[in-house]
Amino acid sequence: MSDPRESAEELGEVVEDLRRHLLWQEETGGRALLVDAAKQAAERAASLKAMMPPRPAKSPAAPESPAAPAPAPSVAPAPTPAPPAMTGTARSAIPAAVPNTPPAPRAPSAEPSSRPAASASSGMLIDVPQQAPPYPGPLPGVVEGERPTLDQIRRELGDCRRCKLCTGRKNIVFGVGNPRAELVFVGEGPGEQEDLQGVPFVGPAGELLTKMIQAMGFSRDQVYICNVVKCRPPGNRNPEPDEISACEPFLRSQLLALQPKVIVALGKFAAQTLLRDSTPITRLRGNWREYQGVKLMPTFHPAYLLRSPHEKKKAWEDLQQVMKIFGKQPGSRS
Ligand code: URA
Repeated sequence: MSDPRESAEELGEVVEDLRRHLLWQEETGGRALLVDAAKQAAERAASLKAMMPPRPAKSPAAPESPAAPAPAPSVAPAPTPAPPAMTGTARSAIPAAVPNTPPAPRAPSAEPSSRPAASASSGMLIDVPQQAPPYPGPLPGVVEGERPTLDQIRRELGDCRRCKLCTGRKNIVFGVGNPRAELVFVGEGPGEQEDLQGVPFVGPAGELLTKMIQAMGFSRDQVYICNVVKCRPPGNRNPEPDEISACEPFLRSQLLALQPKVIVALGKFAAQTLLRDSTPITRLRGNWREYQGVKLMPTFHPAYLLRSPHEKKKAWEDLQQVMKIFGKQPGSRS
């Protein structure tokens, strides 16, 4: 006999899942129903294969399939409108729930970078703005205590000139995916392809991320994908502290709007920025953390995995922990 309280809880979860699903259907105009199951299964199998660590005897660069096409994004990048003045009091969108902590000491580390090896500070801890208070300043136009919408946040971002990245960018890369996603991936910043297309993770690292998402039993349009900085750092260099500080209120507001069940922080910039923790990603990864009451799993950035395919096994272990939260099994479609 099952425990009636457990059954009630289960029923509650089913109802919540159904509610989210219906909202998602509504927002995708029913597109989500038009899924070719065989194609999805094939994609899933290919993705699982792509996530497997390379066989030791083979060349380390072998496991990626560069020809794999990235699926078209489901949500077009928002245009860059001149922002109408938003109403409401100019107070923080982020509840100040975490006490101020003193800046963590920075130490050199051999931490993996998601940027190419030529990147200036790739061997060092990132310059997370540790001097700043744990939560950045107010995002005007969002009323405290109210859940903003992604559209509201995008309007507030406008044709952003808040940091020097605006001078070199072609497009602002705000974020893409299901506005009601339960699973959110946060990367570092747009690369060349992302800058050109205005969509996150559509270049080589994006192809791998798409395979990772599919291997987890999701599609790109079921989840939400965004970055710490919304404009491409020139030459794909690391984002600098002032750039992270300028963009951070928007990321935090996006997460407040989304209120996901799980955040996957891809690489040190996402993990260290959201957690205000300068621990190297090699030690952060694989351990559940909490961001504003939301479960957060730090893992390696896909660009790092492309350069270090032997680390894919660890990333896959991290993602499997996330899958458990959603009741998903590797190789199954449940
Ligand atoms: N790397 C990132 O961190 N984000 C992107 O959007 C693309 C590559």
